[in-house]
Formats: sequence, structure tokens, C-alpha cells
Amino acid sequence: PSEKDFMGRNLYNYQGSWYYPSRLQAILNFQKDFKARDTDIILASFPKSGTTWLKALAFAVVHRNKYAPNLVSHPLLSNNPHNLVRFLELDLYVKDQRPDLEEIPSPKIFATHMPFQTLHETLRDSPCKVVYVCRNIKDVLVSRWHFRSKVRNELYSNYSLEDMVDEFIKGDYAFGPFDNQVLSYWKVSLVSSKPVLFMKYEEMIEKPEAQVMRLADFLGCSFTEEEKQSGMVEKILELCSFGNLSNLETNKTGTSAFGIAPHAFFRKGGVGDWKNHLSDDMARKLDEMVEKKLRGSGLKFE
Ligand code: A3P
Repeated sequence: PSEKDFMGRNLYNYQGSWYYPSRLQAILNFQKDFKARDTDIILASFPKSGTTWLKALAFAVVHRNKYAPNLVSHPLLSNNPHNLVRFLELDLYVKDQRPDLEEIPSPKIFATHMPFQTLHETLRDSPCKVVYVCRNIKDVLVSRWHFRSKVRNELYSNYSLEDMVDEFIKGDYAFGPFDNQVLSYWKVSLVSSKPVLFMKYEEMIEKPEAQVMRLADFLGCSFTEEEKQSGMVEKILELCSFGNLSNLETNKTGTSAFGIAPHAFFRKGGVGDWKNHLSDDMARKLDEMVEKKLRGSGLKFE
């Protein structure tokens, strides 16, 4: 089925989520050409849920030994996280591209905004590890609204927060509805046959050390006692912190692999900025929608 977005552009529904035609084409290319290796790692998220942060953390954790002990020559100091961990459907399989995946250091880390059911079957049916990060939908919405006005101002100059709330409630927006995506990973994370680590942005903000150790344990590269003593956990957190990444020259002026200026991915960081933007009525509508969509699933947002 197809729909029009508020600008009159076509959106197509594929396996429960909405996409613009070029994105859907990239997904079909990916499904045709991709073949998973058992060691591949997938970082999945709904847009604006902390993808950039998770990319930086996962890359830093997995490849830390190459840059130990002080991380002084770390690629994150001179590359933005989106160039180090690339999106399957936003970046690698776009147009008629057949990406050379051999260039990516192993274990290969990929990112995606596709729901679990749309991942290639060799990913779904393999021991590949999947890390999913989710975030309170009200902060996601506010973040997405700012992001759109930053990167697509000419298209979205008349697009209000209220419009976006309505769009979220209706569900037919690019990569939406959020519940098709978040619940797909949540359900798989509850069964033991597929390794899916479910992370929450709010918990990462609240207890970063515990969450980064949890990430390392899951990815099979736990921090050793010696590393903990030498402050490796803190060094990685500092390297990947909002303050550090957003102030690096590479993230202020560089270009991202898929054509969006990297500074657009760093706005404010943190929890609860929705309180500064959404009216009580907008917040109530969103809460009711989330409550209805997640009812019975056992998943709760902060
Ligand atoms: P805000 O707009 O609320 O500030 P994504 O990476 O999925 O596109 O999400 C972007 C959101 O994550 C933005 O939220 C951005 O500021 C925040 N973010 C980016 N890097 C971060 C980091 N290192 N630590 C915490 N938050 C970060």
C-alpha cells in the first residue's frame, strides 16, 4: 500500500513500515545482495534514539585493542561515527551500489532503521548479534523535528511540532510507525534463540559505565580487570561523550557518508527536553498512543 506524506510525496509500506521510494529500493537491493557473516554486529534504532552515540560506543568497544592504552590515534577523533559504522539502507545499498564490505574492519558493524523482520534472512537466522537502542518517544519526536528543520529547512519550514505529533499518532511517516520497529526487536529480545541486546537511551545517560560494560559483555569483548583498573571504560565514555564528539572539528565541519552534515546529529543530548517543547495536550496524546501500542508487550519507556 502507498500513502502521501504531508508534502504530497509518495510513501510505501513494506513489512509494516513506511518508506520513500529511494529508501525502499535500497532495502530491496540490500535484501538481494547482502550475506551475513556470523561475526557481524547490527546496531538498530528508530531515528533520533541515540544511533550516533551507539555507533561510537560499539565501534570504540569492539576495536579498542588497536588503539589502547590511551586511544590517542582513535579514528573517532578524525571521523564522524556515521562514516565508521555505516547504515545498510541509508548509505551502503543506495541506488545501484554494491558496496565492498571487505573494506570494513572485522568484526563488521552495520547500522539500520529497518524493523527486525526486514533484516536479511542470513542476519535473522544467524548468531549475528543485534543491539537495539530505544528512547522516550517524546524526546525522539522533538529531536526529529529539530533535525528536519536543520537538514531540510526548505522542505519543512512550515512544518510545526503539532504536525509532527499528528503524523506520529497517525503512524504513516518515513520509518514509522515506531511500534512496528521497536516491538519487532523487543519481541525477539525476549526469546533466547537470537542474541538481541535491548538498550535504553535514558539508562545510558543515567548509568553510562554500567551500560557500556553491558554492551561489551554482550558483544563478547568484556573489559578485563586490568582495563577497568587502567580507566579504559571511562576513556571510551569520554571519547564518545556528547561534549567530546560534538566539539571535534570532524563533526563540526566534515561530511557524513550519506550526505548529511555530521553536526546535525548533535543537538543537545540528554533526557526530557520534550518538556520545553510539547504542550500538555501534545504530551497527553503521545502518551496515550504509546500506552495503547505497547499494551501487553511488557515494554515501557522511561
Ligand atoms: P537531541 O536532539 O535530543 O539532542 P540519532 O543519533 O539516533 O540521530 O539521535 C540523535 C540524538 O542523540 C540527538 O538528541 C543528539 O543530540 C543525541 N546524541 C548524539 N550524540 C550523542 C552522544 N554522544 N551522547 C548523548 N546523546 C547524543
